Amino acid sequence: MAPQRRGAPKAPEGSGAAGRRRPNSTKHVRAAREVRRKWLGTTILGACAVLAGLLLWSSRGGDDDVTEVLAHHREILPGRFIEVPCSEDYDSHRRFEGCSPRKCGRGITDTVITRDEAQRIRSIAEKGLSLGGSDGGASILDLHSGALSVGKHFVNLYRYFGDKIQTVFSEEDFQLYRDVRQKVQLTIAQAFGINASSLHLTKPTFFSRINSTQAQTAHDEYWHAHVDKVTYGSFDYTSLLYLSDYLDDFGGGRFVFVEEGANKTVEPRAGRVSFFTSGSENLHRVEKVHWGTRYAITIAFTCNPDHGIADPEFM
Ligand SMILES: *[C@@H]1O[C@H](CO)[C@@H](O)[C@H](O)[C@H]1NC(C)=O
Ligand SMILES: *[C@@H]1O[C@H](CO)[C@@H](O)[C@H](O)[C@H]1NC(C)=O
Ligand SMILES: *[C@@H]1O[C@H](CO)[C@@H](O)[C@H](O)[C@H]1NC(C)=O
Repeated sequence: MAPQRRGAPKAPEGSGAAGRRRPNSTKHVRAAREVRRKWLGTTILGACAVLAGLLLWSSRGGDDDVTEVLAHHREILPGRFIEVPCSEDYDSHRRFEGCSPRKCGRGITDTVITRDEAQRIRSIAEKGLSLGGSDGGASILDLHSGALSVGKHFVNLYRYFGDKIQTVFSEEDFQLYRDVRQKVQLTIAQAFGINASSLHLTKPTFFSRINSTQAQTAHDEYWHAHVDKVTYGSFDYTSLLYLSDYLDDFGGGRFVFVEEGANKTVEPRAGRVSFFTSGSENLHRVEKVHWGTRYAITIAFTCNPDHGIADPEFM
């Protein structure tokens, strides 16, 4: 484009005087320029690679966070357990030897509850929640207390529907619910090396259905980071059974362990059981659901028999 440049190259600006005084040094100047150009190239290339890496890394987290995936939705995990140091939250509660956590952590398994069981238990949730539903994006159904979201409030479904509830649920539904609860309880006991009979189901244990509709009341705001033992004093071990698939049934809605450094996500998958000790070592939140509907069931356990609740009975 600039043919005159093909001739004797002009010395770089600022080095003209030196070049004139010591003609011998032009070689050095050219060499230095060559080195500088190479360095510049390398630096730019390096910066681009780092930037691309950062972009790729951050794009893995939907909320622009640095995240690490503990369980991908396409994986089928026989069992994964990550131990984390226990917080001091348990010290302020009565201790139950052989149950209160000495070892804390989080586990995930896709082989305890089958996809078929997840599908069947989800249809219990669908039937129950079809009787109500929050005006906001998050509805719950608690088969133990009977609590069901309706509009901006809750009703007691057993009281509200009375005997008619027997035309909604069947004995098989309740049997399945108990079987699933039992399997989850055994899984937790095994992972933490405790006797399963020292664990007691506690409240709230409930189904949740979340969609992208805007929250109407504080009950709809499921996405805040929280500690279960602080929110519900009785919890010692929390578990979640997912009943729908991340990215097939809904977007957003991943479970996130909030940590310094890198947050850890669990991508829901129908039949996936995720469980963890309920103290501050497991601060967590759920990302907002962006589309579709996310079903899950929260099953909580306590070591304190006084805080135990019974399985729901079909009557
Ligand atoms: C982890 O998540 C929290 C809450 O969403 C967020 O404030 C924080 O920036 C995230 N941490 C990292 C390292 O991305
Ligand atoms: C979300 O669910 C509520 C019932 O809880 C329903 O009224 C609303 O239409 C649903 N929103 C979407 C986007 O499907
Ligand atoms: C577990 O606890 C129950 C009741 O407390 C007891 O009967 C049983 O022997 C215990 N099992 C083991 C393996 O320790």
